[in-house]
Amino acid sequence: MTESVSITVDDKTIAAAKGVNLLSACLANGIYIPHLCYMENVNPAAASCRLCFVEIESRSGPVPACTVTVEEPLSVRTDTPAVRRLQKAGLQLLLSVHRIECRICPANRRCELQRIAKFLKVGLKPGKLAQRFKQPEIDSSHPCLNYYPNRCVLCGKCVHVCRAQHRDVVLTFAKRGFDTVVGYYGLSDNLAHACQDCRACADVCPVAALLSK
Ligand code: SF4
Ligand code: SF4
Ligand code: FES
Repeated sequence: MTESVSITVDDKTIAAAKGVNLLSACLANGIYIPHLCYMENVNPAAASCRLCFVEIESRSGPVPACTVTVEEPLSVRTDTPAVRRLQKAGLQLLLSVHRIECRICPANRRCELQRIAKFLKVGLKPGKLAQRFKQPEIDSSHPCLNYYPNRCVLCGKCVHVCRAQHRDVVLTFAKRGFDTVVGYYGLSDNLAHACQDCRACADVCPVAALLSK
């Protein structure tokens, strides 16, 4: 039988299975922590979005909850000023490279960026950061998918589900730094055909960066 560990999160005590991921345990118990890149079955977590910060009593400074494995009783705070500062700064950074056009966006009202901004009680704005956009605004080179780099939050979920579904990889990250995008690696007619019956990447995207044509 799996050993259970008690975690205090803010003012709530929850029981978590030893070895479970802290973010996963919080979410499973109805404690929302902003997150974009976490996937239940990916270990170690990608930890790329830098939004899921919490403070843990025994540790100095905020840590991403998705990088913590519950091995012993923990006292966790999800709402300290330092946590909120990091989360708001992380969101603004994402929005500084994001075309904010919710009214015409297919993700409107189901978008994770909107959910996070609402939770943090901030507008969908990049604050004082200047906005920068990638060109071209749409990659339509795939026969059944369109990719919008200026909506993509580079969470990596599409790349992961693509690898999990297909023996040959269709999606991968391409380029570097600011120019990083999701691209179609060695796309052949066979792979494009596999996409026709799949679309797992478009389904898992937390925004509207990958859409069926
Ligand atoms: S992806 Fe989300 S935040 Fe971006 S334009 Fe669409 S609805 Fe708005
Ligand atoms: S296309 Fe969507 S799922 Fe893929 S990295 Fe961008 S935001 Fe994440
Ligand atoms: S969900 Fe933890 S860093 Fe993205």
